[in-house]
Amino acid sequence: MKKILFVCLGNICRSPMAEFIMKDEVRRQNRAGDFLIASAGTSGEEEGNPVYPPARAELAKHGISCEGKRAKKFLPSDYSAYEYILCMENSQVRELRRQTGDPDKKIFRLLDFTSSPHDIADPWYTRNFSLAYAQIAEGVRAFLLFLQKGDEAQQK
Ligand code: 4NP
Repeated sequence: MKKILFVCLGNICRSPMAEFIMKDEVRRQNRAGDFLIASAGTSGEEEGNPVYPPARAELAKHGISCEGKRAKKFLPSDYSAYEYILCMENSQVRELRRQTGDPDKKIFRLLDFTSSPHDIADPWYTRNFSLAYAQIAEGVRAFLLFLQKGDEAQQK
């Protein structure tokens, strides 16, 4: 079982999109049972709130539901509970490394798994939810390939 936590600032736009895009992807691959996937924000400001309606609408355009998701703040105990902590921006990588020290080197920026490493701009400010979706989906695909390569290397 691989345990993955996606992290953004508010946990109402980007990291919930990543959570549900990845859940959808592994379900399509009939591997849902191999993963525990969740998301959190570095800020507690939106705690308890549902996914922001334009982010929810963008997921729905792709046939993905995020029903029942409520924003939660990253807790120190999340560090040991997850194997990969995948952040949307370097600012969250820095913040979580500061909070946890990252002794197990499990905090990453999602798009660092792609050939075009950069932050995923916050659609809360850019209003570009389709671009955020495309970038997050690319990151999720690249991360799944990274995991697959690791599994293949282990089997050799
Ligand atoms: P997210 O977007 O980090 O992708 O969930 C944001 C949502 C809310 C706020 C900032 C970013 N806010 O400042 O309330």
